[in-house]
Amino acid sequence: MWSKSFLLIFICNITFIFASLCLDRPDPLRLNYLERVSCPMVTKNEENKNYSNLKRNINMFNLTFNCGITDITLCEKVKKAFESAEQILSDAIMFNQFVNINATFTNICAAYGACTSINSGIETQVIGGAGPSRVMMIKDDDGVNRFYPQSLVKQLGNKAHPKYSDYDINAIFNSEGVSYWFKEDGNIRADQVDLEMVILHELIHGLGFLTSLNDYMHDTPQELTPYVIGIINTSGSNYHFIGATFDKYMSVVPTGQSVSDIIKQMDVFSDVQYANQDNFTTTFLSSPQYNLATDLFSKAINPNSLTLLSGDDTIFLETSLTPFNSKSSISHFSYQKHTNTSDFLMRFAIERGKTLKQYVKMGGNYANGPIGPKLRAFLKSLGYTILDSASNDQTSISTTISKAELIIWCMLTISLSNIITSCLWK
Ligand SMILES: *[C@@H]1O[C@H](CO)[C@@H](O)[C@H](O)[C@H]1NC(C)=O
Ligand SMILES: *[C@@H]1O[C@H](CO)[C@@H](O)[C@H](O)[C@H]1NC(C)=O
Ligand SMILES: *[C@@H]1O[C@H](CO)[C@@H](O)[C@H](O)[C@H]1NC(C)=O
Ligand SMILES: *[C@@H]1O[C@H](CO)[C@@H](O)[C@H](O)[C@H]1NC(C)=O
Ligand SMILES: *[C@@H]1O[C@H](CO)[C@@H](O)[C@H](O)[C@H]1NC(C)=O
Ligand SMILES: *[C@@H]1O[C@H](CO)[C@@H](O)[C@H](O)[C@H]1NC(C)=O
Ligand SMILES: [Zn+2]
Repeated sequence: MWSKSFLLIFICNITFIFASLCLDRPDPLRLNYLERVSCPMVTKNEENKNYSNLKRNINMFNLTFNCGITDITLCEKVKKAFESAEQILSDAIMFNQFVNINATFTNICAAYGACTSINSGIETQVIGGAGPSRVMMIKDDDGVNRFYPQSLVKQLGNKAHPKYSDYDINAIFNSEGVSYWFKEDGNIRADQVDLEMVILHELIHGLGFLTSLNDYMHDTPQELTPYVIGIINTSGSNYHFIGATFDKYMSVVPTGQSVSDIIKQMDVFSDVQYANQDNFTTTFLSSPQYNLATDLFSKAINPNSLTLLSGDDTIFLETSLTPFNSKSSISHFSYQKHTNTSDFLMRFAIERGKTLKQYVKMGGNYANGPIGPKLRAFLKSLGYTILDSASNDQTSISTTISKAELIIWCMLTISLSNIITSCLWK
């Protein structure tokens, strides 16, 4: 009945394995494709060494680089561009743990069947994609469960944590159809793209700059919900709506209502058991809560209708694109508002023919470089510790560590169904 496969179903599984609820994103080009994975709690101390880069000039990223082309010179240049982008992030954020990246530079056109596509009448080209390899459900300091990116969970320094995936960030960049510019190349040509800027942008998505909001029920998007999580036992399933850390800071213009509050109002289906997905979907689509989802969608396709609030900053998100594009809408700074500003980096599109350095200059030569003041404030809200790279002293401008606590997800056997209540949602 519903052509889209949209729900994540978890079978409550035998024995008392204490685990968090983890979702993996194996394909960086399909950000909306998530798989449930087993991630039991781990308390090993050696996994928890505190490396810390409070001392400057340490690259806190651990790059596994797969170069899928034969041009070794180009491979080397791409690798150097990665290292340069990693250093920019290492100078901006205090990491206690290395961030592992699985990055691939290859012909995406061949692997994915198409290089260019038409969006809103404009021919667009895929340059790359990246996202957190794994997200973990954590009870946030406001008592709400949200999916945290693994790279952030690592920095929190809890002794016990859900089993980590080998990589924190999966990234892929297209070797075909784009002419890249590198620092050692001299002047940039009008048709070239500074790959370092693209990499920096994508790594920030990988650190958690990504909403959960999407239409998980229709092929043509017309409503928005956070992740839909189903929990099965023999008599049926319960369904929850759960957002990402990013969504905690979103709110709606002009009412100022928080998206977190809207998600809370939507998440009222978990007390009822549904026989199957269609049963739940049908119920949801005809419920008053569905209006919340369609209202949210109308915000996502109207300019200046969704913001991120962090500290005193208001960041307008990208809500000008029609039709809605799950890869570009919402999870970016508004193009219209942030072009030629110091917060140019997280716009959904970049113009060719300009280097990262030139962008910084066009944005007013922000002292801390390409990671602009609003983005820095937001990364701080997410839970990262931000360093002041403009000053020479090695003090950080923030030492807050989010009070997020790990929630334990209990997997039980269906034969021990009477125990399930002790593992129900908290
Ligand atoms: C770097 O990544 C590789 C591959 O995943 C891993 O084997 C290694 O332990 C990592 N190093 C650190 C310091 O995390
Ligand atoms: C790294 O990413 C590539 C491309 O996304 C994927 O094919 C490969 O399996 C990944 N490697 C590991 C060790 O996960
Ligand atoms: C890691 O070490 C740094 C510097 O010594 C310290 O400021 C930070 O609080 C430590 N973090 C954790 C999670 O232990
Ligand atoms: C689930 O579907 C069945 C028919 O397939 C229907 O009788 C029942 O009322 C539905 N339950 C809910 C809660 O919608
Ligand atoms: C940004 O600045 C450039 C050069 O200063 C100018 O050509 C361009 O029109 C500006 N764009 C916007 C949207 O203001
Ligand atoms: C399945 O879980 C629901 C609560 O979500 C519970 O009321 C019901 O008794 C459980 N059924 C079985 C067979 O365990
Ligand atoms: Zn992006």
